[in-house]
Amino acid sequence: MRKWVPWWAKIVLKIGLSRLPVAYQAFARKGIFRHGHMDSPTYALHVIQKHLQQSNLAQAGSGFVALELGPGDSVGSALIAHALGASRCYLVDAGEFAIKDMQAYHEFADELRKQAVPCLDIQDCDTIDALLHACGGVYLTSGLASLQQIPDNSVDFIWSQAVLEHIRAAEFKAVMCQLKRIMRTNGVASHRVDLKDHLGGSLNNMRIASKHWEKDWMARSGFYTNRLRFSEMLNVFEQVGFQVEVAGIDRWEESPLSRSKLAGEFQCLSDDDLTISGFDVVLR
Ligand SMILES: C[S@@+](CC[C@H](N)C(=O)[O-])C[C@H]1O[C@@H](n2cnc3c(N)ncnc32)[C@H](O)[C@@H]1O
Repeated sequence: MRKWVPWWAKIVLKIGLSRLPVAYQAFARKGIFRHGHMDSPTYALHVIQKHLQQSNLAQAGSGFVALELGPGDSVGSALIAHALGASRCYLVDAGEFAIKDMQAYHEFADELRKQAVPCLDIQDCDTIDALLHACGGVYLTSGLASLQQIPDNSVDFIWSQAVLEHIRAAEFKAVMCQLKRIMRTNGVASHRVDLKDHLGGSLNNMRIASKHWEKDWMARSGFYTNRLRFSEMLNVFEQVGFQVEVAGIDRWEESPLSRSKLAGEFQCLSDDDLTISGFDVVLR
């Protein structure tokens, strides 16, 4: 949504638009309510390679089991994981947002080959179920409940890009517990977290008290972020038993919003938590 639209107007517009009886894909085509950019092969490839490198798994070998949390608009990452040697790749989202148009996946595969990625031949696949079957992909769309179906100690590599901040605050620890449970003892997870609001890249989301923000109708309107700050996420990772290695931190020079404008519950956050705008983390 345009930069010149003020944050509060974006909230009002998105609440209104999210109530229209229009399918998600129709909004996504217009760039409203998109769940990221995973439908671009260049972006999806860059993301998975970055997370493999960050995890010291650039040469992952073959036969590993991978899991992407929050793939968003495409199941194309399963094709990439297969080309990089994964025997199985779970894609776990909180809804069925992936495009189903096979023409888009044929173009996705062609583009990967142009970028020297040895992508599977999917000419004979005429549905995304056939595509997933061919490349060992498993697309699960019930968030926490989906993670609960995955066996203990069975996944070698987990990654997410701009997802952890979207997990409902009340579920965040439970999701992290599940990721710890399913990750093999010598497995690794790599996450990129965006801590800016999704209303223009500031902290305007923190002006609103949780008793309103966490209402289901607010959280389902396309701008929800859980507002957990850097230190709070790190605490949860440690509490569920991960060894935490921060791989990178982005900061604003100063908090983009003065404390007095934040909801009371956020006014006592540390300067660090109010100036860290994103981070990369590796969990073992
Ligand atoms: C901003 S999109 C990012 C999509 C993609 N990773 C990318 O970089 O383009 C956030 C994604 O996280 C997903 N998500 C939110 N809560 C989730 C949960 N509890 N479990 C799995 N995915 C979740 C959303 O449905 C959405 O697909």
